[in-house]
Amino acid sequence: MSNVVIVGTQWGDEGKGKITNALATCADFVVRFQGGANAGHTVTVNREPIVFHLLPSGISVPGVSCVIGPGVVVDPLGLVEEIDRVREAGISVGENLLIDVGAHMVLPYHKAIEAAEEERLGGSAIGTTLRGIGPTYADHTSRTGLPIGLLASFDAFRAAFETEATRKNEILTRLYGRDPLDVAEMLEILEAAAERLRPHLSDTPDILREALSQNRNVLFEGAQGTLLDIAFGTYPYVTSSFTSAAGVSAGTGVPPRMVGDIVGIAKAYVTRVGSGPFPTELFDKDAEIIRDRGAERGSTTGRPRRCGWLDMVALRYAVAVNGIRRLVITKMDVLDTFHRIPICVAYEIDGKRTETFPRTSEELRRAKPVYETFPGWDADTSGARTEAALPDKAMDYLRTISEMAGVEIAAVSVGAAADAVVEFTRIL
Ligand code: IMO
Ligand code: MG
Repeated sequence: MSNVVIVGTQWGDEGKGKITNALATCADFVVRFQGGANAGHTVTVNREPIVFHLLPSGISVPGVSCVIGPGVVVDPLGLVEEIDRVREAGISVGENLLIDVGAHMVLPYHKAIEAAEEERLGGSAIGTTLRGIGPTYADHTSRTGLPIGLLASFDAFRAAFETEATRKNEILTRLYGRDPLDVAEMLEILEAAAERLRPHLSDTPDILREALSQNRNVLFEGAQGTLLDIAFGTYPYVTSSFTSAAGVSAGTGVPPRMVGDIVGIAKAYVTRVGSGPFPTELFDKDAEIIRDRGAERGSTTGRPRRCGWLDMVALRYAVAVNGIRRLVITKMDVLDTFHRIPICVAYEIDGKRTETFPRTSEELRRAKPVYETFPGWDADTSGARTEAALPDKAMDYLRTISEMAGVEIAAVSVGAAADAVVEFTRIL
């Protein structure tokens, strides 16, 4: 197969963007299939970190076509800003960006409603990124959403937008007691964005099916992670899209039988941003060490990330849900200074030991991690580029993960730069 799906196995921020970007030099296409600007994919371009929210992480690689698939929700205003920002960093965005006409638009009223709803929830808020993701997918499912293809004719868009914005203002004012949004003002800024985005609108499923039938190399870049999946994640503390490999077909129009190998990305430890259960979460100085060494702060919202030890119960679950055969372990170097490294091998729930990941957040909240502790390698791995350069104990840690997860480790990442990877087997 000439195509690979990159999927997060935890609660997001596993390094999917970095790995996608590193592999993109071998790719013809890099395709986002779900999520939106809630993603924060940090890659290093010309030695500077740059964060992509909607642009696929192959956009900095010349000759790669980047597709925003129909399963993605696109904020037209945010995308224009992002294009301008990456151009300033010397990245060219032109014919290399294709936006599918079926992708639904995140509009200003989606963000306003989400902010009002999170505030209403107070202490039980989801802790979303406030990028309008949930309300936009809700509109899509309710058949009141506006696909970006409407921008091809601004008059058609205007009519649909006015109807929907008026209805959303009713919700904002009557349900949430907020001020209504100014419809004419929104239309003006959206018209300018439409001009900018129109040249990128495209019928991408056809292009991708054709590319795959010609064995071109395609990378499907997942956003968020399996434990944030709307169906298989820790509901309701999840995002609103199908983040697992199952989302690829529905989010791109590529038939399931054409989808290739699924590569899971897992950090050598676990982080989570926002609310929801997290069995291995740490509150002691080890959490601070991980947060500092790993720069664990949200790249979309700047929030400090919750940090904890690697959770094999959750990782095996992600392997099963996605059909993962190969894993890439990232941020291995963050653990360099630990003398001992615990790994969660099972949970204890109501006094009973289990290796099965609970299907409800309520049960997961009661799960106490059962740890096995492994010796740390106590050495700097950040310069390693070959297997021989990795300390034996670091290799043992990787072998342990591989055996416990029942999958091969394809590569390990030891730093932010695209070349800070030790590849054990060729991925694409
Ligand atoms: P990448 O692609 C980590 C989390 C939010 C919140 C929940 C719902 O960088 O891995 P949403 O705005 O999606 O409705 O928020 O999901 N979340 C992420 N956490 N990485 C992400 O993306 C995330 N995208 C959303 O923090 O808990
Ligand atoms: Mg991120």
